[in-house]
Amino acid sequence: MAYVGQAGMGKTTLLAQARRRAAVHGCIVLWARGGEREQRVAFHVVRQLLQPLFASLSEEERARVLGSWANVVGPALGLVSPDAGLSPDHQGVIDGLDWVVTDIAVRRAPVVLIVDDAHWADSESLEWLTGFTARAEELPPLVAVAYRPDELPPVTEAFRRLAKRHGSRPYELAPLTVEAVGLLLRDKLGEGVDEAFCRECWSITEGNPFETVELAIKIL
Ligand SMILES: Nc1ncnc2c1ncn2[C@@H]1O[C@H](COP(=O)(O)OP(=O)(O)OP(=O)(O)O)[C@@H](O)[C@H]1O
Ligand SMILES: [Mg+2]
Repeated sequence: MAYVGQAGMGKTTLLAQARRRAAVHGCIVLWARGGEREQRVAFHVVRQLLQPLFASLSEEERARVLGSWANVVGPALGLVSPDAGLSPDHQGVIDGLDWVVTDIAVRRAPVVLIVDDAHWADSESLEWLTGFTARAEELPPLVAVAYRPDELPPVTEAFRRLAKRHGSRPYELAPLTVEAVGLLLRDKLGEGVDEAFCRECWSITEGNPFETVELAIKIL
């Protein structure tokens, strides 16, 4: 599932809710967020996704999950220090990640992968996620991503195409209605807020939740 929207439209809020619900239903949630400053750090998002899970495993379990991919995938995941003479090729890491995450998804189902701010994800992680998600249609994990569509780098065209492949998707987050802005304002400022004021705020913020919350804070 892909959710798109400009800054402040509620993507992180929505994914946080999905994360909470998935956890309540007993899912294993693997979560990561692209970072503007880490965009050039290869496999940064993949490490965020997988490191917490690996940290919770015993030595034996970790070795079993990595299997014969330990020396290929381990360094990219920061689990094994890169061997001096060993420089795993890029495709090898991608293939190894496919295996490792498929193993996790099958053995630990239900698994939910969440990537927020995918427009800032490093290209290596996005390349892996694009390939994995295309195949994961036949696999059990749910993959949910969110991004600002205008800020997705051109090199991620395959990722964009994948997100578009499913009919009405990606889901574009709609602006808040006048009524919703009214509810938010009354929640922050009290029940005395009248209809005309709500409409005025709505026209200023164009229903952007972030702008609406900020406006309410300024008025307070
Ligand atoms: N549906 C909503 N109702 C009320 N408030 C909301 C809603 N969605 C988001 N907000 C509020 O709006 C603010 C911005 O939301 P959020 O951080 O989820 O936006 P975003 O789309 O992730 O933005 P960015 O692209 O900058 O990461 C937050 O303070 C959040 O509490
Ligand atoms: Mg966000």
